[in-house]
Amino acid sequence: MQTNAALKEMRTDKILRKEKLLFPAGGRKQWESIEEENQAYWTKRADSYAQTIRAELSDDHVAMWGDVLREEMAGLTQKTGRLTVLEAGTGPGFLSILLAQMGHSVTGIDYTQEMLNKAKENAALAGADVRFLKMNTEALDFADEIFDLVVSRNLTWNLPHPDRAYAEWMRVLKPGGKLLVFDANYYNFLYDEEARKGYDRDREKTAQAGEDDIYLCTDTAAMEAIARQVPLSAIRRPQWDLELLRGLGAKASVDENIWRRVWDRNEQINQASVPMFMVRAEKAGNE
Ligand SMILES: C[S@@+](CC[C@H](N)C(=O)[O-])C[C@H]1O[C@@H](n2cnc3c(N)ncnc32)[C@H](O)[C@@H]1O
Repeated sequence: MQTNAALKEMRTDKILRKEKLLFPAGGRKQWESIEEENQAYWTKRADSYAQTIRAELSDDHVAMWGDVLREEMAGLTQKTGRLTVLEAGTGPGFLSILLAQMGHSVTGIDYTQEMLNKAKENAALAGADVRFLKMNTEALDFADEIFDLVVSRNLTWNLPHPDRAYAEWMRVLKPGGKLLVFDANYYNFLYDEEARKGYDRDREKTAQAGEDDIYLCTDTAAMEAIARQVPLSAIRRPQWDLELLRGLGAKASVDENIWRRVWDRNEQINQASVPMFMVRAEKAGNE
């Protein structure tokens, strides 16, 4: 049963949302849906994001991510050799390009056309053969059980219906296939006082270390407005992910130390209070 306080909060939230639509702060544009707002945000971010990804494709990130992916895929590659892979929310294409360079057959999807344009440019520069498609990962346009591996990085926190995305990923995986989700509690600071202190501390330490602040090339007001509308900002993870996946019948586990292996010094200082985790899930096989 909902408590009075919870009901009041829900009503207040409704009023605030309505007010935001009627009286947008600073003349912000109106959006028909969270999807439209999100796509507009990523369209604007595509150029600077693509530059970061281009740097990642030519520095230590290739070896760091390559080692983790090879390790996680070992069981599948021993059985199958070349894998059929889906990357959800590929952005400018980092994981898709890496996996294609390892010889796998990769499809990268994103629902922001400008991100896909950048991904195609990056793949061409890297000489990687990837199929990029425009698609919403919460409603995939694929048949059941066609991928050996589904991966996503820095996507799930951004989804209005992450439960639908997880269900879709498990649907398109072959029996015995594997899901790898890399993410973090990025916007939990909007809801939790301790997390807010952590976020502020990260900003201070990043400045003290003379490192570039990742958040400076972000329209923080626009990003936070989106993060307030999606459910995972307010939820402790990866516990939520594990419970959901187990509810879908998958064998799920987590590596909460993966950030040590895939983040460089700049990322580790910028995001010390929100370390990246990796959720892995295996779909039951046909034994
Ligand atoms: C933070 S970026 C991450 C990009 C990439 N995965 C990476 O790690 O470099 C999030 C990306 O997810 C995409 N995205 C967000 N919601 C999506 C959805 N429902 N379906 C497909 N793509 C989505 C955005 O367009 C954006 O390109």
